Amino acid sequence: MRYLITSALPYINGIKHLGNLVGSMLPADVYARFLRQEGETVLFVCATDEHGTPAELAALEAGLNVESYCLRQHKRQADIYQKLGLSFDYFGRTSSTHNHELTQHFYQSLDKNGFMEEREISLMYSLDDDRFLPDRYIVGTCPRCGYHSARGDQCENCTSVLDPTELIEARSAVSGSTNLEVRKTKHLFLKLAALSDEVRAWVYENRDWPNLTKSIAMKWLNEGLQDRCITRDLSWGVPVPRPGFEGKVFYVWFDAPIGYIAATKGWAVENSKEDDWKTWWCSPEDTKYVQFMAKDNLPFHTIMWPAMILGTREQWKMADQIKGFNWLNYYGGKFSTSAKRGVFLDQAIEILPPDYWRYSLMSMAPESSDSAFTWELLQIKVNKELADTLGNFVNRLKFAAKHFGSTVPEGGHPGEREQQLQVTCEKLVGTLCELIRNMEFRKATETLYSLWSVGNQYIDERAPWSLIKENREEAALVIRTCINLIRLYAIASAPFIPFTSQKLFEALHLSEADRMRKISDAVNLDALVPGHPFDVPPPLFRKLEDKEIEELCRQFGGG
Ligand code: 2FM
Ligand code: ZN
Repeated sequence: MRYLITSALPYINGIKHLGNLVGSMLPADVYARFLRQEGETVLFVCATDEHGTPAELAALEAGLNVESYCLRQHKRQADIYQKLGLSFDYFGRTSSTHNHELTQHFYQSLDKNGFMEEREISLMYSLDDDRFLPDRYIVGTCPRCGYHSARGDQCENCTSVLDPTELIEARSAVSGSTNLEVRKTKHLFLKLAALSDEVRAWVYENRDWPNLTKSIAMKWLNEGLQDRCITRDLSWGVPVPRPGFEGKVFYVWFDAPIGYIAATKGWAVENSKEDDWKTWWCSPEDTKYVQFMAKDNLPFHTIMWPAMILGTREQWKMADQIKGFNWLNYYGGKFSTSAKRGVFLDQAIEILPPDYWRYSLMSMAPESSDSAFTWELLQIKVNKELADTLGNFVNRLKFAAKHFGSTVPEGGHPGEREQQLQVTCEKLVGTLCELIRNMEFRKATETLYSLWSVGNQYIDERAPWSLIKENREEAALVIRTCINLIRLYAIASAPFIPFTSQKLFEALHLSEADRMRKISDAVNLDALVPGHPFDVPPPLFRKLEDKEIEELCRQFGGG
């Protein structure tokens, strides 16, 4: 089995926030890292989602033309993701030639099969801006929930997909003008209604999806699928290759998911693997495809994108698993890119090293319901779980080095307590692996923390600092066992905190084979034998002081 893993393609506008990270890219990365370590063949791709009104509007605000803006933002985002340790095999762009070609190909197949229809429709036109106002170019009050900054295409608050003409008190997002009129123009529609039985059958086949995914897909199906307009009056995007559509492009949500395939093609071409992208997308049987995304993306991935694929009558790989996330809130309210509310990733990596974020965010992943990020919670995660539990345990190496020198000490024989410890670790590691495979990340993170805790319990109970006074051999055994626990922690924690694991690999002089050891195979409290060298690393984590938390609350408007 090979694993194709994608995380929702982040919009190009602005820098993403902690909620975006924990809602797709980070759990996808933990999953990909875990599977690679387990010896599976993995391809993990992502890209910036560059077309549509968000890009045009943000470029306007930045005073750049849209191409330069997208290039700059793509580089910025790629750099931040690399610093956060996101291990994409390829991070592409939906504005790539591959994506243009593939999008036009999808259109042609859908058209050939009768799933495209030209219609004359009425759209909002701004007299002051002298242009049509598609999607985000228009804002107003949501007709469903009353949210007052709903965009023309979707309400950020209640996730309803909207038609711009439905908005109450609509205004232009560019000029704020309410001097709008409805004008007629020609557009292409994807005949979703005609594909709804096939989509329904496909959704029914996938009964093992997580609840959130299933319930959103069912909600959409039960409301009945409407044909959707998939072209726009914009210049930035994939041109529509059809007479009479000069100057129009495909809607961003039409070309964005095709970006997954295009990114795979980019990966293959740049790595001289030629047609290898096709083996991932066109030979469905031996590949398991897992998608990660926040809940607002679920309708497009459970309904729209599958409908597009089904309508081509071609054998494109469809998702086997779709892991959706609820919202990570910032205190009581939402993170918001447009309102600049919350913590953005460029700020985050200035405040703390990546592993602090990776671990803390995974432990608060909004899986079964929305969850909230607070600085106070971050402080607990960092101080109690990372610093006091894993950090302190590793710091025991100091004691080991002081009394036994910097090699694994000899002496003593593992007894009942060590036997029991081995069994406990095996159980916890088994649970950890199963939880990650089932994509239950929050519980997986809790299990990792439990695994760190059993080491602390063991050393506290065995108290080698007292033992050494009366029974040096026995103290040596305890220390040797603890060093082996650190080895286990380094291996088992790697998908979550790869930078820290790397430090531990180096401190323990672990062999290449041990560094890539399957987590499921890693419990061996005799793996590092007497005489094996180690170094005492500097403290792994620093604590967040109360003062610092107060300052962060002030600076970011939390609390
Ligand atoms: O919500 C978002 O950030 C979108 N850019 C996700 C697109 S996912 C995929 F289909 F491209
Ligand atoms: Zn709403």
